[in-house]
Amino acid sequence: MEERKNYKEALKAPIFEYITQAAEELNLNTYVIGGFVRDFILKRGNAKDIDVVAVGSGIDLAKKVASLLPNKPKVQVFKTYGTAMLRFQEVEIEFVGARKESYTEDSRNPKVESGSLEDDQNRRDFTINALALSLNKNNFGDLLDPFDGIKDLESKIIRTPLDPDITYSDDPLRMMRAIRFATQLGFTIEQNSLDAITKNAERIDIITKERIIVEINKIMLSPVPSLGFKLLYKTLLLQRIMPELTALHGVEDVEGQKHKDNFYHTLEVVDNISENTEDLWLRWAALLHDIGKAPTKKFSKKVGWTFHGHEFVGSKMVYKLFKRLRMPLNHKMKLVQKLVLLSSRPIVLAQEVTDSAVRRLVFDAGEDIDSLMLLCEADITTKNPKKFKKYHNNFKIVREKIKEVEERDRIRNFQPPISGELIMETFDLKPCREIGLIKDRIKEAILEGEIPNEYEKAYHFMLELGKEYNLELKK
Ligand code: CTP
Repeated sequence: MEERKNYKEALKAPIFEYITQAAEELNLNTYVIGGFVRDFILKRGNAKDIDVVAVGSGIDLAKKVASLLPNKPKVQVFKTYGTAMLRFQEVEIEFVGARKESYTEDSRNPKVESGSLEDDQNRRDFTINALALSLNKNNFGDLLDPFDGIKDLESKIIRTPLDPDITYSDDPLRMMRAIRFATQLGFTIEQNSLDAITKNAERIDIITKERIIVEINKIMLSPVPSLGFKLLYKTLLLQRIMPELTALHGVEDVEGQKHKDNFYHTLEVVDNISENTEDLWLRWAALLHDIGKAPTKKFSKKVGWTFHGHEFVGSKMVYKLFKRLRMPLNHKMKLVQKLVLLSSRPIVLAQEVTDSAVRRLVFDAGEDIDSLMLLCEADITTKNPKKFKKYHNNFKIVREKIKEVEERDRIRNFQPPISGELIMETFDLKPCREIGLIKDRIKEAILEGEIPNEYEKAYHFMLELGKEYNLELKK
């Protein structure tokens, strides 16, 4: 007989006692299932949500549990899905009745019937997500694992309980989830599954963009995001979701002149920046920093491959891509656009560092200068160790200069030292073109380092400019 594995220690939280009591009173077999069990075994920290399945009505069970809990929480019922949710001590607990389920072709009208625990485990996405622990008094904590999910957890394998063709076409989002879990956990997707994803890739089109992006963002926030993007590419999903990115794939060779593969370069940049920041939007900026290169690519005999203006084109593409993928069109999108637009500036600087170029860079990047530097350092993917060292050293110098220039001229949050009103007042002017010209020339002189960013010096300079423009001082 197979050894009975017991995981009572996973079920120490008080909530489980209440569920057991409620299940007993209603005479329902009840189990905790899915991510909670998986993450307990993987020691992935405290769960924020718990999925409970009852062989019978999940809604009745939820109501009973709520009535036993000291704070009598509200039960949210989702009748169409036959599920109910309540919150207890910061944790969301979702209750569902065990079901047999199959979807129609367009996946919009699932036929749902009640079923046994094993039916319910069958219709889940992966063996590692189908592990259940009993909450019943007689075998509390026993593991129910009909598909060897524990073995797959140990050997780090993503496998579907059923034929993968069925699992993925039941819910095509699972194709993304497979790749997301593989990336988050460092697991391998079993070959049949990988083949089924590739075969069913076009079914991703019926899934809403919002749900796809949830998975993409989880891939982005994984320790090595490129693992996920390579799988998305290999299975043809990425070509459907982000064709702008996959357009960067490949190396063209004309008369022996090649350019680098900007797709794999981009993925390296994403991995690099991920070593230095957890910020999702900086990682997005890395992912999109070169997307303008596909539409701007040109070859000429004289200069070889060029991508003129790709930063500008790329920053325009960011908006379109965010919009199409239903991502926020707010300040986060603007940050990504700005970083894409400025992404080549520090690299030029790294070749020759001048004070005025640094000042201009800080002026244009403003508060985002540190993020821009992170992106540009991540962008160094040369395999030539000499160049690698040289570029990094130069960026170190750029960073020091940024500090120096900032201490002197406070360019980051540049406020013009001389206001338009003061110019009008000094020369007794009504609103006119000269005011803008003078303001601009003062700013330019500061950025060029001709005068420091100080009121006295700037005032003096304004008076000189007044002479140049033949303006009379106010009497
Ligand atoms: N599930 C599924 N198919 C899906 C989504 C979810 O079979 N498309 C099942 C899995 O058994 C999963 C459980 O529902 O474990 C809960 O789903 P969810 O909360 O989305 O995922 P978790 O596994 O808990 O993981 P995470 O919190 O990392 O998303």
